[in-house]
Amino acid sequence: MRARPHRLDRLPEQYFTALLARVQTAAAREGEPLIDLGRGNPDIPPPPHVVEALREAAAREDVHGYAPFAGLPALKEAIAARYRDVYGVEVDPGREVAVLPGSKTGLMEMAQVAVERGGAIVLPDPGYPDYRSAVALAAARHAALPLLADGRPDWDAAPEEAAALYLNYPSNPVAAAAPDGVFDEAIAWAHRAGAWVLHDFAYGDLVFDGRRPRSFLAAEGAREAGIELFSMSKSYGMAGWRLGFAVGNAELVARIENLQNHQFAGVFRPVQEAGIAALTGPQETVEERRALYEARRDRALAALTGHDARGEGTFFVWFRLPEGLTAEHLLEEHRIAVAPGEGFGERGRGWARLSLAVRDDALDEGLGRLRRALDG
Ligand SMILES: Cc1ncc(COP(=O)(O)O)c(C=O)c1O
Repeated sequence: MRARPHRLDRLPEQYFTALLARVQTAAAREGEPLIDLGRGNPDIPPPPHVVEALREAAAREDVHGYAPFAGLPALKEAIAARYRDVYGVEVDPGREVAVLPGSKTGLMEMAQVAVERGGAIVLPDPGYPDYRSAVALAAARHAALPLLADGRPDWDAAPEEAAALYLNYPSNPVAAAAPDGVFDEAIAWAHRAGAWVLHDFAYGDLVFDGRRPRSFLAAEGAREAGIELFSMSKSYGMAGWRLGFAVGNAELVARIENLQNHQFAGVFRPVQEAGIAALTGPQETVEERRALYEARRDRALAALTGHDARGEGTFFVWFRLPEGLTAEHLLEEHRIAVAPGEGFGERGRGWARLSLAVRDDALDEGLGRLRRALDG
């Protein structure tokens, strides 16, 4: 048999697949039912009118052929309207929006279209593990950018030259909302370093304590500096539908569309039509979802008092594990799964992430067990 191409060997272990397997093995063992707070999978379905739009569209005969590769113009207009109305940003739907089969795809594509082999991609540490997959697939180099306690990058530790920077606010896993001025700082650094910026806005609408969502594109010079990825997964509970957008720099948007013309054949038209219904229809559920996660966040912070717990946004809470207690112990001895911090980068060691995207009764049971474990 011919050897596997190197690009597969370069890929890191897929963090969430491995975590899921460990949790499933532990769950199958004898004992009280395991509580899984490790996984961030939206637990609340999309608004009913969105499901209805999908159903109605799928029942038509004219929707089952290839959709336009670049996406429906009306969908691009709908996301542009959202950027204008919610984030205060004007974008040209014709030139500054690409439709993606989920924003994770955009993470991989950005590295392909912006970084030459061997170029450096700067990633937040701690940060979302899939960013490292993008580095590996592009045969790029990974440079870690440490995050300070408030989630702001330690710019003094950033390299002087790089091809791209990935940022993420509200951030997974550290649950930090965008600190004041962070996008201006990123743009200034990127300018000096000759790097493109990708801002991952997957949790954009999930911010707490009266904060307003903050788009990278609202910062001066952002659309010259890079793109933002918007996801339908978290704001509308549509994670399984695979729909997202790359918004911003027209050159990068065109490169992404070009790559997608080769690699995909558009997104199923009924999904796009339902996406239009989600973006242009009643928006109450976005706020209801946000408020529900905030209420769960409050309960988690109360249970984790004394453990540096953080949760300004996203549906995660990030907390410090006491000396000698690991995520493995929590899983094996207390039958509660959390995501071990070291999987998000070296600076995550000694920390853990818990998910708020679980049913309330499971969350409360899990928090009770966690409290008892932390109290020793
Ligand atoms: C930080 C971050 N970025 C991107 C994604 C991918 O989202 P999507 O469902 O749009 O691919 C996720 C999903 O969990 C995420 O946590």
